[in-house]
Amino acid sequence: MLEIKNINVIFNKDTVNEKKALCDLSLTLNDGDFATVIGSNGAGKSTMLNAVAGNIEVESGRIYNNGKDITYMKEHKRARFIGRLYQDPLKGTAPHMTIEENMGLAYSRGKKIRFGFGVRKSDREYFKSVCAKLGIGLEHRLKNEVGGLSGGQRQALTLLMATMETPELLLLDEHTAALDPKTSKKIMEITNRIVTENHITTLMITHNIRDALDFGNKTIVMNSGKILTVLEGDMRKNMTIADVMKLYSGTDAVLSDKMILG
Ligand SMILES: Nc1ncnc2c1ncn2[C@@H]1O[C@H](COP(=O)(O)OP(=O)(O)O)[C@@H](O)[C@H]1O
Ligand SMILES: [Mg+2]
Repeated sequence: MLEIKNINVIFNKDTVNEKKALCDLSLTLNDGDFATVIGSNGAGKSTMLNAVAGNIEVESGRIYNNGKDITYMKEHKRARFIGRLYQDPLKGTAPHMTIEENMGLAYSRGKKIRFGFGVRKSDREYFKSVCAKLGIGLEHRLKNEVGGLSGGQRQALTLLMATMETPELLLLDEHTAALDPKTSKKIMEITNRIVTENHITTLMITHNIRDALDFGNKTIVMNSGKILTVLEGDMRKNMTIADVMKLYSGTDAVLSDKMILG
């Protein structure tokens, strides 16, 4: 369970560029919740994920993971139980290492350090089987360098690596936004399968309102550093894109065509 309690994030404090990016924001996710996050540019979506990941420090408020206060825990410590994916497929994998070497690194995370290099045969069989489940042929390319993969293949691999050891939290920041529509759809399907099969508590930012309503069990609607509303249950099921747009009437939010048209 993730509990965010009244967090405030201020950038460039006490300067002319001071920016309150998160204002007294609170949110609770239950175990296995798959929450999508939407909001116009600058709403504070990435900042919220960064605060949870420990990438930025909060001004005040608390963050608890499974009851444990992680507000001031260092980012590298949180990385042991938090999986992350960004928009950029180049992040999260080492280009000059092979697929299996990258997976080996992810697999050994949180385990006792193993001396010596190379991938064990038993591990290789396991990597092959998890890659095969993606259905995009990565299992035949385990000895290929990751730098030669397409953006979609690389994002799929990063997702696999982030979830190979099931994380307590998964944070996805527009992880399909840089991909072409067909590849983006495939990565969303894979994401959905991995998250639901493993009941991973997940926050997924998306620029696409349709995806935000179709995937997961909750939608967090953000604006100006605050949560406008959390959609769930029957109300969410029956929501249309137009209904979501109405939530923004009376706010200063500018919804992009991308959000509305997908
Ligand atoms: N490192 C930073 N320094 C200064 N301002 C920032 C920084 N990161 C984000 N901001 C500002 O905080 C606000 C929220 O940004 P962000 O969380 O990235 O929005 P979103 O992901 O919803 O588009 C924006 O006004 C942005 O310009
Ligand atoms: Mg962002």
